[in-house]
Order: sequence, then C-alpha cells, then structure tokens
Amino acid sequence: MKNLKINATAIIFLMFVLCSLPVYSQEAEQPIIDQKVKSFLKERGRWHDMNVPTSDGQLLYNLILENNYRSVLEIGTSTGHSTIWMAYALSKTGGKLITIEINETRHQQALTNFEEAGVAHLIDARLADAHKMVPELEGPFDFVFSDADKGWYRNYFEAVDPKLKVNGCYTTHNISDRPGGWNSDYLEFLMEQENYKTTVNSKGGGMAISFKKAK
Ligand SMILES: C[S@@+](CC[C@H](N)C(=O)[O-])C[C@H]1O[C@@H](n2cnc3c(N)ncnc32)[C@H](O)[C@@H]1O
Repeated sequence: MKNLKINATAIIFLMFVLCSLPVYSQEAEQPIIDQKVKSFLKERGRWHDMNVPTSDGQLLYNLILENNYRSVLEIGTSTGHSTIWMAYALSKTGGKLITIEINETRHQQALTNFEEAGVAHLIDARLADAHKMVPELEGPFDFVFSDADKGWYRNYFEAVDPKLKVNGCYTTHNISDRPGGWNSDYLEFLMEQENYKTTVNSKGGGMAISFKKAK
C-alpha cells in the first residue's frame, strides 16, 4: 500500500516536470537571447550595407510584438539588420521568419550576424532571386517587410497579398508621403487597395505600414 502511494506520487511529480519543461526552456532561453541581441547590436555599431536605421528596426520589432505576429517574410536581407530586429520580436511571440537575399556575400555575412546575435534558429535565410522565389512561397504570412529592389515593389505586393492573413501587416521601406517623393507611384497604389489601411512612418527611412482589413 505504502509502495503504491510512493509510486503514484512519483508519477504525478514526473508528469508535472514533463508538462512544465517546454515553458521552462522557453522562459529560460529568453534572457540569453535578450543579452546576445542587445550586446551584438551595441557592439556592431553602424551598418553599411543599405541597412535600415535603428529606428526602423525598432518600428518593425514593435509592430510584430504588439500584434503578436508569428509568420514573417522579409524581401531583401542584405547583412541582416532588420532581420535581427524582427527575429528578436519573434523570439517573444514564438514565431519564425523567412528572408531572401540575392547577393551571396551579403547573405553569408547575414548568416554570421544571425549566429552572433543568437537568433539564427528563428531565421530561414534563402539565397535566391526574390522575383522568382516570392511567388513560389506557400505562406500564409502575418507580417511582411519589403526592402529589396524598389522597381519590383508592386509585383512583390501582388504576389504576397493572397498569402497575407486578414489583420496581417505589409510594410515597405523607403517610402515618402511627400508628393513626388520616393516611390510615390507605389504609395498611390497601396492607398488604392480598399482592403488595406496604409499609413507612412517618416521617422527613419520612410515606412509604409499597410494593415490588411479584409480579403
Ligand atoms: C536595402 S537592402 C536591405 C536591407 C536590409 N533589410 C537591412 O535592413 O539590413 C536591399 C537588399 O535587397 C537585395 N535584392 C535586390 N534585388 C533582389 C532580388 N531580386 N532578390 C533578392 N534580393 C534582392 C539587395 O542585394 C540588397 O542586399
């Protein structure tokens, strides 16, 4: 009888430990990621490969975190500044990210940066031509950051739109809301999309933020 009681207690204890393991490991991992990302970004200093300014990295981070987005696509990795900010947010929401870059040297440097920043496990970095790859991606996505060749911005949007969830968000870099400013034709196109609500954040390099309201 006593043995039976001990066994039952042991089983209950074991079940408790097993059930709390994933939560424990996720919680245990976060301070390590926090520390690695922060010290990597601090030590890295300035970025020189057409990367977003820090304020835009922070903006992408906030959008993902505030909306609890988990499935992210980036078009135009370069050496990975924006990618690291987005992956950092995804370490908190429990999500993953695909990023595409056509230039091999920048792609390789990005891979090194992701390792050093402690976020490589959250990133699927593809060396490819996004013109070809974006239409082939399955999705669905809930957040997109478009920052590759500006002449193709509209084609990227049209290819991803069917794969973006309602309440998802499509962001585009280097957009100005001044008449005749950077990529104003494209901004006009975004504003015409009736199922999207688009605003422009001009604090950094200019970010169009388009929330998808309906299919
Ligand atoms: C402005 S940079 C991206 C900066 C990056 N988002 C960051 O903040 O670190 C644009 C990148 O898009 C890449 N690119 C241009 N055309 C591309 C294409 N067709 N497919 C994939 N990448 C492309 C360029 O090689 C360049 O590295």
